[in-house]
Amino acid sequence: MIGRREFIRNSAVSAAALALVRPAKLAGAVASTGTDSRIEVLPDEVLGTISPNIYGQFLEHIGGVIYDGVWVGENSKVPNVGGIRKELLDAMRAMKAPIVRYPGGCFADSYDWHDGIGPADKRPKRTNFWLEGDSTPTQEHHYESNRFGTDEFMRFCKASGCEPYISANLRSLPAEDFYRWVEYCNSPAGSTTLAGARAANGSVDPYNVRYWGVGNESWGCGGNFTAAEYAVEFRRFTAWVPQYEKPLSLIASGPNSDDWQWTRQFFEEIARKDKSLFETISGWALHYYSWNLSRGRTQDFDQGKGDALKFDTQDWYEILREGNRLESLIEGHWQAMGEFDSTHEVKLVVDEWGAWYKPGSEQTAGNFLEQTPTLRDAVFSAMSLDTFNRHADKVMLASPAQLVNCLNSPFLAHEDNFCVTPIGHVFGMYAAHQGAQSVRTVISAPEASYQRDGKPASFVGMQGSASLLNKNLVLTVVNPHVSETRETEISVRGASIGSAAMTILTHSDLHAHNSFAQRDEVTPQTKTLAASGKTITLSVPPACVMKLALTLI
Ligand code: AHR
Repeated sequence: MIGRREFIRNSAVSAAALALVRPAKLAGAVASTGTDSRIEVLPDEVLGTISPNIYGQFLEHIGGVIYDGVWVGENSKVPNVGGIRKELLDAMRAMKAPIVRYPGGCFADSYDWHDGIGPADKRPKRTNFWLEGDSTPTQEHHYESNRFGTDEFMRFCKASGCEPYISANLRSLPAEDFYRWVEYCNSPAGSTTLAGARAANGSVDPYNVRYWGVGNESWGCGGNFTAAEYAVEFRRFTAWVPQYEKPLSLIASGPNSDDWQWTRQFFEEIARKDKSLFETISGWALHYYSWNLSRGRTQDFDQGKGDALKFDTQDWYEILREGNRLESLIEGHWQAMGEFDSTHEVKLVVDEWGAWYKPGSEQTAGNFLEQTPTLRDAVFSAMSLDTFNRHADKVMLASPAQLVNCLNSPFLAHEDNFCVTPIGHVFGMYAAHQGAQSVRTVISAPEASYQRDGKPASFVGMQGSASLLNKNLVLTVVNPHVSETRETEISVRGASIGSAAMTILTHSDLHAHNSFAQRDEVTPQTKTLAASGKTITLSVPPACVMKLALTLI
């Protein structure tokens, strides 16, 4: 999303923080009579099937993500499964994480997968890509031990219930190494020398890795290519890739944010050679981070960032406003792709998303890029997931950056400490959408009005998505308003409501977050609602993520 040099410099700017504790009118909805908002779900208007993979996750060899976050070692006092943090595995299963991208990020284009296989004590030690970015590095973060490699990742996937998604190196290794990695992972037992090496490393059976990223951020750390140059490289890397029992899904390195040119020029160059090549590309990977809280004053990546924990009302709305651009990015890139790929063979992937704040809020000092997510990030993440749901026809896979100890992380971990962040709870709540049919939902609610640099401004009222699986309807909604409850009437066109359960994630303090000392400061609360008939009326508290699970009759 930005030049490597720019984002590895630490910001010195510190934002003035305003205490923003709201009066304690929350903790659950109550039946209400007067309404100011309406939600109508239209089950007959199907938008697409929600791919479980849009609830994906991402792991990179960066800061404390792999070492400490995931890998604690077999001899650790931290409960582990073959060296992998057990609490993380359990939490991933609980939130039904379907897929994990690995090993980067920018790291991927500097990584030789050969370094990470075989006897652990024989693996070479290398300089990590993030050497410069990590100002207070630990030896392990700075110099890559390769203790965690392909086989450990595959064990991690199996134990967490996830499918692997590998991002391959296009910048610094030849295409042959990409083929060999595919061969190592996928060639049938006993078929190739690399299948033999895999067996010696613990897995006779192939890993059958389907999803392969071909480069990462090829416009930046992945090679500084132009889109047309990258298209040529992509064609060369993918002209032949060994395929065994299962077909591969190849994902190309897409644009940074609103770089429409990157999308147009790549698609134009592919089409110039042969339009049928679109059939060989499964996904086009957009990366979008929300970081600029300067309200138009700067585009400088360091100066524009805000603080994860200290923020005022403007910053609350501003990061949500930035996050909400995701919808126009999906629509815009989809349109640009369609100018060349008219049948939309290629779907969108958003495999890096989230809010990016300046350093300083990390739970573990020295963990590069780690930040502490608050209630604000829960609302932000819920809005993002609702956006993906609403575009279920376009988005096949998404993952925030990154699973643990990083930017928009569902989990934080250090030594024997672990906690689920408010973002992790959102993923848990939203898991109910996976695999269901996204259906059109019309929400009308008063906009949130606030002062933006002394001038009146407004932000969208409630926003959300709904999905249907058999007779089970799941509606998820955020009320981004910092102080106003929304009295809401909900109906489902053509159906009656048999039963309803509501889950609410909110807090009286906008800055509330979970930490190792207070793991359950922000947790979802569920209650059954007395419901029968055509409508439900309830109060949606301010600064809240709500899920309503309805059975229809
Ligand atoms: O997620 C952190 C970094 O952000 C990734 O390595 C890179 O792809 C992006 O710029």
